[in-house]
Amino acid sequence: MSTTKHIAVLPGDGIGPEVTAQAIQVLQAVCDRFGHTFTYRYADVGAIAIERHGDPLPEATLDTCLGADAILFGAIGHPRFDNDPSAPVRPEQGLLRLRKSLGLFANIRPVTLYPSLLHLSPLKEEKVRGVDFVIYRELTGGIYFGDKGQTPNGAYDHCVYTAAEIDRISRLAFEHARRRRNKVTLVDKANVLETSRLWRKVVTALAASDYPDVTLDWMYVDNAAMQIIQFPAAFDVVLTENMFGDILSDEASVLAGSLGMLPSASVGEKTALFEPIHGSYPQAAGQDIANPVAAILSAAMMLEHFGLAEEAATVREAVQATLEAGIATADLQTGKASRCSEVGQAVAGMILTPVEVIEN
Ligand code: IPM
Ligand code: MG
Repeated sequence: MSTTKHIAVLPGDGIGPEVTAQAIQVLQAVCDRFGHTFTYRYADVGAIAIERHGDPLPEATLDTCLGADAILFGAIGHPRFDNDPSAPVRPEQGLLRLRKSLGLFANIRPVTLYPSLLHLSPLKEEKVRGVDFVIYRELTGGIYFGDKGQTPNGAYDHCVYTAAEIDRISRLAFEHARRRRNKVTLVDKANVLETSRLWRKVVTALAASDYPDVTLDWMYVDNAAMQIIQFPAAFDVVLTENMFGDILSDEASVLAGSLGMLPSASVGEKTALFEPIHGSYPQAAGQDIANPVAAILSAAMMLEHFGLAEEAATVREAVQATLEAGIATADLQTGKASRCSEVGQAVAGMILTPVEVIEN
């Protein structure tokens, strides 16, 4: 059945616009093949929005997002702000406000590896074979959003969680575990932090009352940082609070061989947002060399969110076939690298001209 969807496109900074363009090329190929209609409305966010409107998240951008079925997000950040602790507005504030305004409390980051790229992982191949886990990172609470400020001789960031905030993301994580290998690992620092003890209490009670069929285990965050490197294949669903999830998901992303491979979805109360987990990579901006795979796979997560499972699978298969054909950007190969746009074109091409299966 054909469907119509309105997508807000927030390309953002650095390589954001070029990888987003490839994701849209791929979405258009999906529309052509499956008979859907997607419309795209562009809006500014991040450093570019500060430059143009004096605000990293202009009101008009938020309105565009609220009126859309989903948001395709590029990247955010500019070196101009990174080394200036006194900058009154920062690009990142745009993303944080967007998450808060849309109630995007769950950030979902799947860590899957392509067999043809295992040799690129910094870990030995036998360690990363079979790695397939997903991180559920709480996104609108904790130290990111607690009271913060400066005192005459210092500064503070408060970490605050309510039981309800923990409960709602935990339910999503347990539901997802049921569709996977039925295991949730709660990562916290319950030996030190009061908020972590609350996470343990809430998650343990929820597991017992509503998800007795799912295995729950616990891990301190320092130990988890080690286990992700030592035994990455042992994880299924990792559930954690905002800042631990930020750090662990970057750590986990290198398992795949390149930061340019991993997508994410942020879901919650209002319009869901899909973005590659990599940053704005300003050194590469405008050169058509960035890896568009994470953005393309984020678009696949968007299709899944729309309930278009076959379309999402088609995109993932096309990405895999493209990589196996050796069409990949410089971060993935030492030989002749393809450009960002060539990879996007190849993926779109494979979607448009599916391989015929001949049955006899
Ligand atoms: C991420 C990023 C953001 C975060 C920054 C850009 C604010 O690192 O999405 O992981 O810390 O959440
Ligand atoms: Mg991060």
